[in-house]
Amino acid sequence: MSNTLTITDSISPNSDPKLEIIRLENISKVYGMGETEVKALNDINLAINEGEYCAIMGPSGSGKSTAMNIIGCLDRPSSGNYYLDNLNVAKMNDEDLAHIRNKKLGFVFQQFHLLSQLTALENVMLPMVYAGVKPSERKERATEALIKVGLEKRLNNKPTQLSGGQQQRVAIARAIVNRPVVLLADEPTGALDSRTTQEVLDIFGELNSTGITVVMVTHETEVASQTKRIVWFRDGQVVHSHLTPEELHQLVVV
Ligand SMILES: Nc1ncnc2c1ncn2[C@@H]1O[C@H](COP(=O)(O)OP(=O)(O)OP(=O)(O)O)[C@@H](O)[C@H]1O
Ligand SMILES: [Mg+2]
Repeated sequence: MSNTLTITDSISPNSDPKLEIIRLENISKVYGMGETEVKALNDINLAINEGEYCAIMGPSGSGKSTAMNIIGCLDRPSSGNYYLDNLNVAKMNDEDLAHIRNKKLGFVFQQFHLLSQLTALENVMLPMVYAGVKPSERKERATEALIKVGLEKRLNNKPTQLSGGQQQRVAIARAIVNRPVVLLADEPTGALDSRTTQEVLDIFGELNSTGITVVMVTHETEVASQTKRIVWFRDGQVVHSHLTPEELHQLVVV
């Protein structure tokens, strides 16, 4: 590992809270107790502005998914504050957390997590049921989201009738249908070949260009290099908060 890069503070002193959509302050996450205790996150600070396109990288076990699950309000930190769109969600109860998650966040996973008995259209309509969108509007908006990801000809196919890349595109349509401010993706291209990886990245790039903040965990340098900012985790800490693709290259080849 290269020593030429200095460890940077993840929240720069002149960062403007008005622009921040995500702000993690002294976040720690401890799993288990006593002898089995694992400190998955050790006092991390990280700020991401609205509209950023950011990759999170680092060795296996360095805390990337733990951080993403906290950012995605799927899990709570053991200590610290998490401000999502200036709301301190670390202190919210389960009900409020579920509401915020549904309203502000979209999540894409490596394994798609589509419901196999539902069609593409029905899978994408589902989050709107929880969001209380009128039934008459659900179909229209789901169709619109599926068109956005290039699946207008696959609306009535079930997941088993779709390729991996197409399934991931359905998952992206599902993640954006409630018009989130942040799209979170944990290794979204991990199960895809290079061609479909590029299709998914093209969609992320387009969504980001419309103003959606995109934060993605990846192990692939070629994937991270297509984002605009790379954050590097090691041992439960953010050790680089603004790597360029060139600096990343230096870090992974040395
Ligand atoms: N539910 C859990 N219970 C106990 N320990 C956990 C749990 N989830 C994660 N850990 C531990 O926390 C640490 C960070 O895990 P995490 O899944 O965040 O890593 P990661 O960076 O996403 O790794 P990978 O690249 O392999 O996905 C690891 O040591 C892991 O074993
Ligand atoms: Mg992980």
